[in-house]
Amino acid sequence: MTKVAPSMLSADFSRLGEEVKRIESAGADWVHLDVMDGMFVPNITIGPLVVDSIRRLTRMPFDVHLMIQKPIRYVERFADAGSDMLTVHVEAEGDVKETLKKIRDLGVKPGITLNPGTPVEKLDPYLDLVDLVLIMTVEAGFGGQSFCDVGLSKISRIREYADSYNPKLEISVDGGINRETGKRCVGAGATVLAAGSSLFKLSDMAKEIALWKSYGPNAKE
Ligand code: DX5
Ligand code: ZN
Repeated sequence: MTKVAPSMLSADFSRLGEEVKRIESAGADWVHLDVMDGMFVPNITIGPLVVDSIRRLTRMPFDVHLMIQKPIRYVERFADAGSDMLTVHVEAEGDVKETLKKIRDLGVKPGITLNPGTPVEKLDPYLDLVDLVLIMTVEAGFGGQSFCDVGLSKISRIREYADSYNPKLEISVDGGINRETGKRCVGAGATVLAAGSSLFKLSDMAKEIALWKSYGPNAKE
């Protein structure tokens, strides 16, 4: 069954706790949390304090997407705040292997991600160090952008790797995911759909999440 990870970036931040409860009761599998520092990407969002404060509200796994410069400086803070998965960008400054190993040593699942313009081969040196590969189908930085097709072939390539070497590898996709693009991504081999605007705008998020969860690997376009 496909997992659904609503991105809190599209939540109403004045009611963040209620929004976490809303996605939980709608059947979300993971909480996708987008951390932006105004340096690696132009936008600024949340830090460990916010992660820590919503940690008390739910047992859903926290899938934390770090869009920050030199992420190694902050992985301990985000681990302490209650992250279950910490995903770093291959384009970020610093030693990626060391960062992923540090995340693992902190007892958190490491993930690696890349922007649409970065070739998927750039992930090769790190695939055996991660539990999650996040394929970005928009440029990291903002919610509400349109899905970029380049992600589909990247998902297929990571799917082939996972089938051969690590069937438990989670392959997530993030950016412009809706009912139709999500189905195509699952068809290409994704196991997790991270989505913000298309879910939070709905009055009945539960129905939509149930539909997405029903997508299987043989989904056709
Ligand atoms: C963008 C973030 C995404 C964003 C997705 O940098 O990583 O998680 O919230 O938003 P939508 O689903 O609206 O494209
Ligand atoms: Zn994200």
